Amino acid sequence: MYPFLKQLHSGWAYLALLLLLFAVINSIIGLTSKKEFTAKDRKISLFALIGTHTQLLIGLILYFVSPLGKDAFGQMSNAALRLTSLEHPLINLIAIVLITIGWSKHKKLINSEAKFKTFAIYYGLGLILILSRIPWSLWF
Ligand code: HEM
Repeated sequence: MYPFLKQLHSGWAYLALLLLLFAVINSIIGLTSKKEFTAKDRKISLFALIGTHTQLLIGLILYFVSPLGKDAFGQMSNAALRLTSLEHPLINLIAIVLITIGWSKHKKLINSEAKFKTFAIYYGLGLILILSRIPWSLWF
């Protein structure tokens, strides 16, 4: 169970990050070129939402089976264990909450510029937070 989940979380991270990056770039392009927000833009943002939520779900299960997750919680003096047992899960959870807020907010907006701006801010902040707490040394 553990090796499979670890592999899945490691592999899905590429997809989740690519989808999120693509959605952020798309919203910045839409905003700066004053484009109309179309069904295609909605789909791009939706895929990023689904991709990151799936990663969160896998991460939550992994947290309880990995020796670097719940079992390592509390080992504050060890930077690597603090990252995987506290900082990475907590910051990513906050990032995905921001992404979800961005998605909900866009639905109430009518103006294309406001929609692109909402995605650029909330998805962009989410992406920065996620990238700030990736356990890079485990991943590469
Ligand atoms: C979009 C959000 C997330 C991304 C992109 C992400 C990405 C990653 C990556 C790239 C690794 C290193 C994988 C490897 O060893 O090759 C990792 C490890 C880990 N992640 Fe996440 N993660 C996310 C969310 C979460 C969440 C929400 C949790 C827990 C609630 C979590 C728990 C863990 C744990 C426990 C490890 C260490 C696994 C081990 O090596 O045993 N992750 N994550």
